[in-house]
Amino acid sequence: MTYPPSPLDLDSPLVSAYCRKTAGSARLADGARNVFPSGITHDARYIEPHGIYVTHAEGAHKWDVDGNDYVDYSGGHGALLLGHNHPVVVAAVQEQLSKGTHYGANHELEIEWGELIQKMVPCAERVRLTNTGTETTMLGLRLARAFTGREKILRIKGHFHGWHDYASAGFISHFDGTPARGVPAGTNDSVLLTPVNDLAAAEEVFAAHADIAAVILEPTGSSWGQVPTTQEFIEGLRRLASQYGTMLIFDEVISGFRCAPGGAQEALGVTPDLAILGKIVSGGLTGAAVVGRKDVLDVLDFRVTTQSGDEKVFHMGTFNAAPTTAAAGIAALGLIRSTDTCRQAIGYGEKLIDALNEMFNEESVSWISYGTYGGFHVFLNPENISTSRQRIEAADHSHDTLKAPVSPALRMKLRIGVLLHGVDIQGWPGAPVTAAHNDSDLDRTVEAFRQTIRLLRQEGDLD
Ligand SMILES: Cc1ncc(COP(=O)(O)O)c(C=O)c1O
Repeated sequence: MTYPPSPLDLDSPLVSAYCRKTAGSARLADGARNVFPSGITHDARYIEPHGIYVTHAEGAHKWDVDGNDYVDYSGGHGALLLGHNHPVVVAAVQEQLSKGTHYGANHELEIEWGELIQKMVPCAERVRLTNTGTETTMLGLRLARAFTGREKILRIKGHFHGWHDYASAGFISHFDGTPARGVPAGTNDSVLLTPVNDLAAAEEVFAAHADIAAVILEPTGSSWGQVPTTQEFIEGLRRLASQYGTMLIFDEVISGFRCAPGGAQEALGVTPDLAILGKIVSGGLTGAAVVGRKDVLDVLDFRVTTQSGDEKVFHMGTFNAAPTTAAAGIAALGLIRSTDTCRQAIGYGEKLIDALNEMFNEESVSWISYGTYGGFHVFLNPENISTSRQRIEAADHSHDTLKAPVSPALRMKLRIGVLLHGVDIQGWPGAPVTAAHNDSDLDRTVEAFRQTIRLLRQEGDLD
């Protein structure tokens, strides 16, 4: 396993320049290591020799404690399609803050928020509001199991559904289904894995197991489309799920409201039985939702289950539909529904991918940028295979090729190299872009990659 990476050589010119530029962050990181394991609060924020400490953000930018300005591609881990501090969202939250943050009771904003989700997301006959993507994929699996009376879950190799027990094996490790450390041995007895874009393999699994409650996947591909799915695969899974009485669950925690106002299901024209929404759904505050068929969400309904005599499915959550979150969600979704936000972000992603590929050519590296729906990825091509953006997006390559191990030092130095040049990307490397990015952000991003490539070459990390 290549994650997390080993410590970097601090004497490397790239690393030492980063340390000089971010001296205040380095000091904070030292203190943080006495508080948090690795000094961090989310594995994806693990950066060697240290990450940046941010003081404030606006639009597509953020600033660190040393006063450095960054083009931000973390975008709240994908939650901020509108960029930081959109004035409409900020005003809605501020207004609600003065009226109370938690009533421990029903309120009108939750209805408005839920109705908006219903109008936007094709499968959303009913909505249950929650807090995070992780808990909500877990809830989605529970609903599917309760509704079908079956136990098994079919997952796609490499697809991410948060960090809960049923989603831990088969994402970055444990592809043989053995339990990840800390997960009970029996957990994976009910989890099956199948390779992406291989309908024949999926059909064999369905035929061999009569008790599959749900098939869950990231509809545009794992890690925001890093390993793209084909339309044929999605349509085939829909057909198989219907044929075998299995619930098709789209994990739209990242694709929701991004591929289109109605998410990947609108963009792909395939309606799942259930969908998991997170990130954008709550306008940058903490919130998520499971949505889907009424008859399935009815397993949560007191009256329906009393009438049917079935046990009601148990579900709670202190912060479900908190009024401030509802206010942010309504404001953000309202903007996405009534403006061309999705198209703007997708258009920016397209331009960025083209510009990066042009520059990679000029710099004679075999890296390839690709991505759909405003996600951009950089295939670091460790084996120097001959391919193209078009072939990658057409799913010509397997999960193992596109996620082939890359030198951890190279991956980390790329990340801090672009930080050194004023750009914050995600570690895979890539990111979901926002509607707030503009042409000057694009120019800075391309230049940051260019300068980093040159430094990596000078340091012998790149041919
Ligand atoms: C597809 C997908 N599912 C689930 C999750 C987990 O969501 P959360 O981090 O809110 O628990 C994520 C988070 O990045 C995600 O991208």
